[in-house]
Amino acid sequence: MLNVTRLSSGYGEVNVLNDITFSVGNEIFAVLGANGAGKSTLLKTLAKLIPVTQGHIEWQGRDITRAPAYSLPAQGVAYVPQEHNVFSDLSVAENLSVGALTGSRTRDEKLDEIYELFPRLADRKDQFAGSLSGGEGQMLAVSRALMQDPSIILLDEPSAGLSPLFVDTLFEKISEIRQQKSVTIVLAEQNATKTMEIADRLLVLSLGEVHLLKPVKELDMKQLMEAYHI
Ligand SMILES: Nc1ncnc2c1ncn2[C@@H]1O[C@H](COP(=O)(O)OP(=O)(O)OP(=O)(O)O)[C@@H](O)[C@H]1O
Ligand SMILES: [Mg+2]
Repeated sequence: MLNVTRLSSGYGEVNVLNDITFSVGNEIFAVLGANGAGKSTLLKTLAKLIPVTQGHIEWQGRDITRAPAYSLPAQGVAYVPQEHNVFSDLSVAENLSVGALTGSRTRDEKLDEIYELFPRLADRKDQFAGSLSGGEGQMLAVSRALMQDPSIILLDEPSAGLSPLFVDTLFEKISEIRQQKSVTIVLAEQNATKTMEIADRLLVLSLGEVHLLKPVKELDMKQLMEAYHI
């Protein structure tokens, strides 16, 4: 369980997130919002990459508000940034090995699982990550996170820049991962329609504040569109 209470954060003098409160259980929890709404900032704050200026973050009963970022993988938290999320100069297999440094299962056991989930990565295991297509790169970034055997994955806009067909595949995989591993997923996305197909609940950010926090089933489309200033 992740509990976020009255969270504010930003970049130096620039405050971006204001007074954000929500909890995430065992679910796909989506963070939606227009460009610049603060989705990536929220995930970076949860991953402890930028400091919390106000409020608290609690993960599995522990206060991690001041925990260093490097302590999170061992606590079951994996983070997939929106950009630059693979090591371009390492091969696919090497990228996956980096993710395998935490957890109790062997690397090979986890690799077999990943290659079964994403056969495209198995075919390209000796290829440099920098030479993968956009969609393959996103699959690798998600897979690297999965190699940690995490309890929660903070996944920042995996569909960015992907063709519609690839987006469909990726979202199917995210849903499959969720069902197979019962891992909690915090999914920041621009693609509201696709996200609503797989998410349990939505947090919609607007200008760094909570505009809406609801189960997808109870969503009122008018409220959603207001958050995008449509
Ligand atoms: N390093 C930074 N320094 C200063 N301001 C930043 C920095 N990174 C982001 N911002 C600002 O923070 C605000 C929120 O940006 P953020 O990247 O969190 O938005 P987002 O919802 O992820 O948008 P997108 O959908 O385009 O990825 C924006 O106004 C942005 O300009
Ligand atoms: Mg973003």
